[in-house]
Amino acid sequence: MGVSRGGFSSRMGFILAAAGSAVGLGNIWGFPTQTASNGGAAFVLVYLVLAFCLAYPAFMAELLIGRYGQANAVSSMQKMSRTLWQKRFAFIVGFGGIICAALILSFYGIIAGWMMSYAIEPVMRLANMDNAGKWLIEQSLSRNLLFTSLFMLLTIFIIRRGVEQGIEKWSKRLMPMLIGLLILLIIYVFTLEGSREGFKAYLNPDISRVFEPDLLISALGQAFFSLSLGTSVMVIYGSYISKKENLVSLGAQVTLIDVSIAFLAGLLIIPAMYVAQAQGVAIFADDGSLISGPNLVFDVLPTLFNGMGLVGLFVAFGFFVLMSIAALTSSISMLEGPVSFVVERHNVKREKATVLIGCFILLLSAIIILNFELLFGLVISASTVYGQPLIAMLCCVFVGWIWQRSEVLAEIKEGNNEVENSLFWKIWPWYTKFVCPSAIGLVFWHSL
Ligand code: TRP
Repeated sequence: MGVSRGGFSSRMGFILAAAGSAVGLGNIWGFPTQTASNGGAAFVLVYLVLAFCLAYPAFMAELLIGRYGQANAVSSMQKMSRTLWQKRFAFIVGFGGIICAALILSFYGIIAGWMMSYAIEPVMRLANMDNAGKWLIEQSLSRNLLFTSLFMLLTIFIIRRGVEQGIEKWSKRLMPMLIGLLILLIIYVFTLEGSREGFKAYLNPDISRVFEPDLLISALGQAFFSLSLGTSVMVIYGSYISKKENLVSLGAQVTLIDVSIAFLAGLLIIPAMYVAQAQGVAIFADDGSLISGPNLVFDVLPTLFNGMGLVGLFVAFGFFVLMSIAALTSSISMLEGPVSFVVERHNVKREKATVLIGCFILLLSAIIILNFELLFGLVISASTVYGQPLIAMLCCVFVGWIWQRSEVLAEIKEGNNEVENSLFWKIWPWYTKFVCPSAIGLVFWHSL
């Protein structure tokens, strides 16, 4: 299987692809909204600490499983197992992750579709097609079905081409665009009245809130979602990395990019909210908290853009294109999890597997759209609040308790000969064995 399954052709290719998976709506939408609803800078501070202290070690565990196994999540974990029970456990964890990725994609595609329709709306207005523009930003079955399908088609189009020609090539194109657009928008917002106050709210932590349990839990959940943990995705990406690479530093770089982009997104959105306020838009709810959730991106920001006149059309277009790109580099990773499983375990051709699974997930999305009130929130919480943390925890258990320590060391040593004497090797094994599973377990238990 080795050669034919493909892999990333370069370090940079992997970094951009994994960062592409990690950086998504979770960073540009989720992180700022969570920051807004959890007291601003205190949340940012806690998030930074948890991302590096808990999410990064768990992320390393998943990358290592994949690179060791050189296969999809199920086969990789089964390769580490010695007894029949361990193999069964491996199947449950690996397959659970794949199902979780598919479920996440089924709702993620819907939200990404909204981002695309909001990106096209300013173009319609520029072309004086106001009715079409209105249809694009109003909830309707036809719009949701059309744009979710379009987004899924894009995702399928990229994943059909495989790792190097699909994932890597498109991540290399889209990620720099995303970062460039983000910085341009921040600079622009910085010049507007009211942004100063937003910067203050974002950067000046109220230390007394740092230990609030709800804040801690939201921050940890956000960190896990953001690094795409517990969904087999980082296992499969890990399996495409060459044995010559130093995983410890690659993982750290991806975490750093992910966290930095979330931080930058906050630097855009929180000040933008205060600019909106300076223009008369209500940004505080009745109870005095900042408005967050869907309203923020789909109401507050568009109102802000509308207030800018003609420039606003371009800014709105830039912003929603940014959102769509971020969503696309993530959705391709979600589809890759199930596709690699079917290709490797059931000997199906990649093109065929991609189209079949993509259409199946699109069908799930359509079912959600048709039963929106009932299913949308349910699928989100089943997959992200319960599924992801649980599976991420089991991956840590796997690495900490089932995989033999000597084998773990041998795998980390590939491409990183000195690791045995490093701080990483002194702390990390112990960390994945005890600290990560208990911390994740605690959050999980609390969310029940
Ligand atoms: N990390 C992405 C974000 O922040 C979401 C994501 C991408 C994801 N791939 C995933 C989440 C796989 C779970 C599983 O938006």
